[in-house]
Amino acid sequence: MDRLSRYLAEHSTGQTEALGWIERQTHVRTNHARMLTGAVQGRFLKMLVGALSPERVLEIGTFTGYSAVCMAMSLPAGGHLDTLEINDELEDLIMEGFDRAGVGEKVSLIIGDAKESLAMLRKEILEDRARPEYDLVYIDANKREYPEYYGLVFDIVKAGGYILADNVLWDGKVLEDPMPTDRQTLGIAEFNDMVARDPRVESVIIPVRDGLNFIRKL
Ligand SMILES: C[S@@+](CC[C@H](N)C(=O)[O-])C[C@H]1O[C@@H](n2cnc3c(N)ncnc32)[C@H](O)[C@@H]1O
Repeated sequence: MDRLSRYLAEHSTGQTEALGWIERQTHVRTNHARMLTGAVQGRFLKMLVGALSPERVLEIGTFTGYSAVCMAMSLPAGGHLDTLEINDELEDLIMEGFDRAGVGEKVSLIIGDAKESLAMLRKEILEDRARPEYDLVYIDANKREYPEYYGLVFDIVKAGGYILADNVLWDGKVLEDPMPTDRQTLGIAEFNDMVARDPRVESVIIPVRDGLNFIRKL
């Protein structure tokens, strides 16, 4: 951990026992622990949900459930979080973490490709009117697909609702000149440009960890 990250961690409220368990299990049971949201950003997500008090939250990219638990902990009474994950091998770990954190009743895990899950949710919300729109969407899945996720979620976010996208600085790669041309960097750069040009929203990039793009639908 670099000095800034250590300072931030030491001067922010620490994680709960259940989140510590998810973090440890992620290291033991997966090879991708670097994808974890982590204690500082997790606390920020928890406090943001507490401040915004959203009834319906959608997460794209569950991984082992760390950020989902952080957000679910602060949902208002009756609030619900749907979280989308493509890797079905993570399901047991995710569900165990939700139970340990006591949020199992407030969270629905939807396994499958997010683009297909979003098409299903769009149909249920916009055509069937079987579900309410979302107050907050947290985007944290495949960086190449951020522009696509933005297009798919926009109509199912309430007016006045929020979209929060993680990793929008992409380890500083979007600032490099020349910018790397790998598909992940291009995906994030296109997403940030798209949001900055979109007259339907106001937005600000917050340089927490790897950058959060905080977007409000007008
Ligand atoms: C950065 S991790 C998410 C971290 C998580 N939000 C957390 O805080 O621990 C990205 C996750 O998105 C998932 N993912 C990637 N592409 C996806 C897709 N097309 N549909 C759904 N999930 C996807 C990956 O399997 C991975 O678990």
